[in-house]
Amino acid sequence: MKAVDVENLTVRFGPFTAVDGLSFDVAPGEIFGFLGANGAGKTTTIRVLTGLLAPTSGTVRVAGLTFDDGGRAIKSRVGYMSQRFTLYNDLSVSENLSFAAGLRKIPPSISVERTERLLNFVKFDQPLTTLVRNLPGGLKQEVSLVAALLHDPEIVFLDEPTAGVSPSVRARFWALIRALAKEGKTIFVSTHYMDEAEECGRIALMRAGRIIALDTPAELKTQAFPERMVEIQWTHTVPEGWREALLSGAASSVVPYGLHHHVLLKDVGAWDRFVSAQSGRLAARDIRPSLEDVFIRLVEGAER
Ligand SMILES: Nc1ncnc2c1ncn2[C@@H]1O[C@H](COP(=O)(O)OP(=O)(O)O)[C@@H](O)[C@H]1O
Ligand SMILES: [Mg+2]
Repeated sequence: MKAVDVENLTVRFGPFTAVDGLSFDVAPGEIFGFLGANGAGKTTTIRVLTGLLAPTSGTVRVAGLTFDDGGRAIKSRVGYMSQRFTLYNDLSVSENLSFAAGLRKIPPSISVERTERLLNFVKFDQPLTTLVRNLPGGLKQEVSLVAALLHDPEIVFLDEPTAGVSPSVRARFWALIRALAKEGKTIFVSTHYMDEAEECGRIALMRAGRIIALDTPAELKTQAFPERMVEIQWTHTVPEGWREALLSGAASSVVPYGLHHHVLLKDVGAWDRFVSAQSGRLAARDIRPSLEDVFIRLVEGAER
């Protein structure tokens, strides 16, 4: 069974189409990334998949359950860490967590032990009587994650969980995400950080309500850049007209990149001849495109 199975999902707000015919599925235990700029439709999709928003059309199954009952059954099987901050600032950490357990109708006999285990899991090290308003941003996110996990959901939706926190907090948070996946939970996470997308098993690139590409990070790179990419640097004098020479045979593009240039090869034989002719004056090494390169190329392709 799929953890998430979506066919032709469309969500309209009045005349505006926010999600436009999405089809994809997520396997149990996968870390599935949803990558896209603001307004791409990530949150709207997640609200449907967490049972909060009725789709305009299309078929949605989450943990094998449909939306037919208005999303009630789905809600009980998924955890959701919303993009908006959802804790109460004026309540303490423990008050927030008991409140969240109460909303989920988890009996204290279970919630007390589970809260403790989850706080250990995120390595929460502040007094539980601390008011949430006095926690640093990263710790608030951790408490939100604990709240989303209290009912032990099998699928966890994290909507930009690391937006606005420091790189070191982001790294810690991703260690938690990997640990959850290792426990067998399915993780559905949205982000607009490219480096985070590299951590996902598969990613869907969203743009204007559509998925413009979906695959593993490695496969997306190979598909978007089937050509070899080489990084070059002139080590002695720079020969005049070298760029034009490359572009007239060996390369389809030459892009400055700091002190280097990134060269996309179109004729490997011509490239080899170019390198031998420049022997000793040119340092060159094969490089892999980043996901950022992939995203830019795919978006350019979609706009053409
Ligand atoms: N309740 C709503 N009513 C009208 N428009 C909405 C509503 N929710 C979202 N939108 C619009 O739908 C588009 C997608 O939004 P959203 O799913 O929040 O994108 P993302 O999470 O990728 O930033 C945006 O243009 C947003 O303004
Ligand atoms: Mg959003």
